[in-house]
Amino acid sequence: MSKRRIGILTGGGDCPGLNAVIRAVVKTAATQFDMEVVGFHGSYRGILDEKITQLTYDAVSGILTRGGTILGTNNKDRLFGVSYGNAKTETDNPELQKARSVLQKHRLDGIIVVGGDGTLTVASHLLAAGIPIIGIPKTIDNDVQYTETTVGFDTAVTIATEAIDRLHSTAESHHRAMVVEVMGRTAGWIALTAGIAGGGDVVLLPEIPYSLDEICRCIKQRYASGRQFSIIVAAEGAHEVGGTTVTSASNSAAHPTRLGGIGALLASQIEAATGIESRATVLGHLQRGGTPTWEDRLLGTMYGQHAAALAAAGQWGKVVVMQNRNVNEVPLAQIANAPRRVDPNHPQVKVARAVGMSLGAAVE
Ligand code: F6P
Repeated sequence: MSKRRIGILTGGGDCPGLNAVIRAVVKTAATQFDMEVVGFHGSYRGILDEKITQLTYDAVSGILTRGGTILGTNNKDRLFGVSYGNAKTETDNPELQKARSVLQKHRLDGIIVVGGDGTLTVASHLLAAGIPIIGIPKTIDNDVQYTETTVGFDTAVTIATEAIDRLHSTAESHHRAMVVEVMGRTAGWIALTAGIAGGGDVVLLPEIPYSLDEICRCIKQRYASGRQFSIIVAAEGAHEVGGTTVTSASNSAAHPTRLGGIGALLASQIEAATGIESRATVLGHLQRGGTPTWEDRLLGTMYGQHAAALAAAGQWGKVVVMQNRNVNEVPLAQIANAPRRVDPNHPQVKVARAVGMSLGAAVE
């Protein structure tokens, strides 16, 4: 009898820890289930273009600590007739038919898809179209529903925290206000978590619109009490009460909204309003590059092992998640294209306020 075979792909923006997932899937499949794994290159595009590589045990040796993804990825393609916005998602089209025939041709039982909410939304559409899929959540933004954490988040927070630490000494030496802009799209998990871990003075989240007056009041109060510097951590999606997010590129079909620029804007506004010299630092893709932390290696390995076991048991249509610090799974069909955002009553928000951080809200 021929061996069982499954595919794997990585989709959306890259992040540290993806290779740990790929390695764990391949090694678990080989050692526990005598199952073969092939990798699709360049996300879903790899299925349609049949860009496929056999991933043997040896082929994934040595990739655990490497950033990025050996399979490549893509966060621009809009495939399989999935609509974003008001247009109707197609239930069948030539790309869906091609995907089914590629699976058949390569004798694949199904595919493990490693992605954020966009990639997982496409996965649930493929599932509905009859393609067996298992999802694994990854994104530095940590905004996938039903899971406490996603692969890549810990590394991004670690990098942002180190940046906040480093900004402290130069801010203090020059008596400046330093704004550090972090990623996260419409979710403030990176800003909030790194803000608490790094001891930011003001932390601005997309979920809690800020008041410039309140930010300036907080900074001036610090100066008046002898602390002549301030660190402001701004999520790229943060915005003023009644205002809109700052974008760095105009909307396009390929990429609906590219966020960025809040750091520079705030630094100039703070300087103008307080007279305190201010600077902005944008961490950008540094948060997504390089070696994964041990947490992301462990998480990626746990998620990958679990997904391979589900595939071997024929348990398709699931997303591997972390719930109450245990690896679990939820139905893939449950995942909709809606990010998990910070609830303003989340315990971390309460902790931030309790230790004297300002969230820039008009009434704290
Ligand atoms: O979703 C991950 C993320 O890094 C976001 O935090 C950020 O807004 C976006 O991707 C940047 O995308 P790109 O790599 O296309 O610039």
